[in-house]
Amino acid sequence: MLWKFSILSMMVLLACAQCSRAQECFTPKIYSEIGCKPVLEEEDGEESCPKRFDCDTVLGRKGNGCFFQGVAYNDGDEIPQNLTRSLCQASCLCRNGIITCASIECPDLFGPYMEGCIPQNSMDSCCPEEYVCAENDIEKLPKCYMNGNEYRAGESMYPERESCYTCICAEGFDNTTKLEENPHCSPVECGIELHSSDRVRTGCTPIYYKTPTCCPIGWRCPESSDAVIEGKEHTNEDPNMECTFGELKLKIGHKLSAANGSAVECQCSVPPMVTCIQAS
Ligand SMILES: *[C@@H]1O[C@H](CO)[C@@H](O)[C@H](O)[C@H]1NC(C)=O
Ligand SMILES: *[C@@H]1O[C@H](CO)[C@@H](O)[C@H](O)[C@H]1NC(C)=O
Ligand SMILES: *[C@@H]1O[C@H](CO)[C@@H](O)[C@H](O)[C@H]1NC(C)=O
Repeated sequence: MLWKFSILSMMVLLACAQCSRAQECFTPKIYSEIGCKPVLEEEDGEESCPKRFDCDTVLGRKGNGCFFQGVAYNDGDEIPQNLTRSLCQASCLCRNGIITCASIECPDLFGPYMEGCIPQNSMDSCCPEEYVCAENDIEKLPKCYMNGNEYRAGESMYPERESCYTCICAEGFDNTTKLEENPHCSPVECGIELHSSDRVRTGCTPIYYKTPTCCPIGWRCPESSDAVIEGKEHTNEDPNMECTFGELKLKIGHKLSAANGSAVECQCSVPPMVTCIQAS
């Protein structure tokens, strides 16, 4: 029994060389995006996964202000360009509680003339700074390997979707380094506050595909027909361990009623937001 367990944990460890803590914890992506603070508890001297988040400031927003990465902006303020550029958004303005931006278009990104060229991406810019096209120049670029694919320096690399990280190939890239510790990798920013601040403001919750660790694919908003379906398991009586959705309160394990045939299941797992998953 014990050896079986060891082999299993070894396999998990090996499989997780390219994964991240948020992924191991199944932490819903929205919390880091909007700037909620994890409430951590120690378990056997080790830090546990966050059991809930403190979102009082960002979710309790009132008036015409906006939030980006947990920082408040006043009506009419511009979000600093250096914070939004990597999201390919510029001139982001807070107006009436909603952020609107202009998309940055990269020149020639899909132009036929760039075919066979290696883009020279960097972490903090939206567009490649240049393209390397000559065959002998490409040959000189260092190579990286990720998930069995080969890349050249400057190319973006995508670990498993659930990890919600991107990496850029560079000299010395080591695919055995954990994503969080890898200087060539960074968490994907979904730009939830840039694209969906109206949804956050009106109490909607993200719908994720399969795991809640990366960018939402849609939103579930409160409706008057919503009801709570109570789970059978013993629930936590701690009033902090409760999700809020519209007028409803859900204890851990409680679910939201769903339209018949809907593939989206919403459940209170990491308060204070309900987590909705589309399984297929
Ligand atoms: C963005 O620019 C401001 C000054 O305009 C600076 O204080 C801040 O550190 C910069 N942030 C990043 C992530 O570069
Ligand atoms: C990791 O990199 C090594 C070379 O450094 C390569 O042989 C191996 O296939 C890579 N692993 C994956 C999963 O891509
Ligand atoms: C879903 O369908 C089942 C049987 O088809 C029915 O008994 C149930 O009441 C329906 N639930 C809702 C929420 O419409």
